[in-house]
Amino acid sequence: MDDETDIDDTLGHVAVVGAGAMGAGIAQVAAAAGHRVWLVDAAPGAAERAVASTRTALDGRVAKGRLGADEADGILERIEVATSVGDLPECALVVEAVPESLELKREVFGALAESQPPSTMLATNTSSIDVDAVADAVADPERVLGLHFFNPPVAMRLVEVVQGSQTSRAFVEHAVRLVQAWGKTPVRCRSTPGFIVNRVARPFYGEAQRLVEAGVADAATVDHVLREHGGFPMGPLELTDFIGQDVNLAVGTSVWEQTGRDERYAPTRLQQQLVERGDLGRKTGRGVYRWEGGRAVLDQPDLELAARLVGGPVETDPLARTLAMLVNEAVDLVHRGEATAEDVDTAMVLGVRYPKGPIAWGRELGFDTVERTIVALDAAFPGGRYRPSPALRDGGLT
Ligand SMILES: NC(=O)c1ccc[n+]([C@@H]2O[C@H](COP(=O)([O-])OP(=O)(O)OC[C@H]3O[C@@H](n4cnc5c(N)ncnc54)[C@H](O)[C@@H]3O)[C@@H](O)[C@H]2O)c1
Repeated sequence: MDDETDIDDTLGHVAVVGAGAMGAGIAQVAAAAGHRVWLVDAAPGAAERAVASTRTALDGRVAKGRLGADEADGILERIEVATSVGDLPECALVVEAVPESLELKREVFGALAESQPPSTMLATNTSSIDVDAVADAVADPERVLGLHFFNPPVAMRLVEVVQGSQTSRAFVEHAVRLVQAWGKTPVRCRSTPGFIVNRVARPFYGEAQRLVEAGVADAATVDHVLREHGGFPMGPLELTDFIGQDVNLAVGTSVWEQTGRDERYAPTRLQQQLVERGDLGRKTGRGVYRWEGGRAVLDQPDLELAARLVGGPVETDPLARTLAMLVNEAVDLVHRGEATAEDVDTAMVLGVRYPKGPIAWGRELGFDTVERTIVALDAAFPGGRYRPSPALRDGGLT
């Protein structure tokens, strides 16, 4: 399909392949927007179980008065189970949400391309796989793109619309309009490692881990600084416990590998050791912190130390280091043409609840100050991790 083609924006059928945590939620979002939705899963009974848990979730919202009973019934009536990809009716959009394996995704896209007409938009919900590698599995890669929903898809507003190198502009624009019609906020980005959120957020975790590793401060004090002085809703060490140290390490390692092992994304010994010990955080009851009843038991921060570190030498200032690296990463992404400044800021605020977009934050701090911080960090810790983006050197984004 060429870029000039108008794609029919009327409510077409939607299919979701993979009825796990993400697929079930995406199906609910599409059905709530009025589409007829088909859910497919390779595991026997999995799609039926997903529909049953959607029913339970909707019943709960009806009981709390947040949703009308008729509305809930309508959503459920619009979701059907299909036994295989080959049994799907002709769809306007198919979203793939099978586990994060390129081989598996290529298999699914191969089957979809054979059974769905060329006008069907094929989207992957991958968090980290290059959209081009998935698109290569089909004869007409211009209809393949990423639709990266955040967890849980029903509650999270952000969707990264990921454009592969061969995705047609018409499909991207169609996807953007569809995401908006579903009540979500789309941001556009190229298929760069980690896309926007999982790329720009890396130093939020990495700087905190390095500070603890170096003995500058304990975890509770570093988290306190980012929360209380930075305005982040949760400190990075608590957040990685909450996400799962294994999950966070896997995302970071994937970005590191995909960037040719760029020092900026190198995993830390601290996190690797947590994972090796099985101290994964919330789900195992122990990570950086002890977890009880789904909450971290935070140690007392050293307030006096925190006050000394903030505004002190940049090498030991958790806030200055983290902010400079976040701004650098965000500016670099925009500089490479992978997303707009506006979309990067929207993505970080909606996707990971940063109190401000990093580009706006950079403007406030002054891009020259950010650059000086990174140059100072490079002098203190040589090796390539602390490299100012060329855009910072040019005075930031105009
Ligand atoms: N969980 C998250 O926080 C999150 C967030 C954003 C994106 N993602 C991405 O979404 C995708 C799905 O993640 P999830 O957490 O929902 O996984 P999940 O393991 O909960 O669900 C995957 C489902 O796919 C099914 N499946 C496996 N092979 C299949 C096949 N060939 N055909 C049809 N169904 C198949 C499985 O039976 C399972 O029910 C992954 O690519 C993941 O990276 C996950």
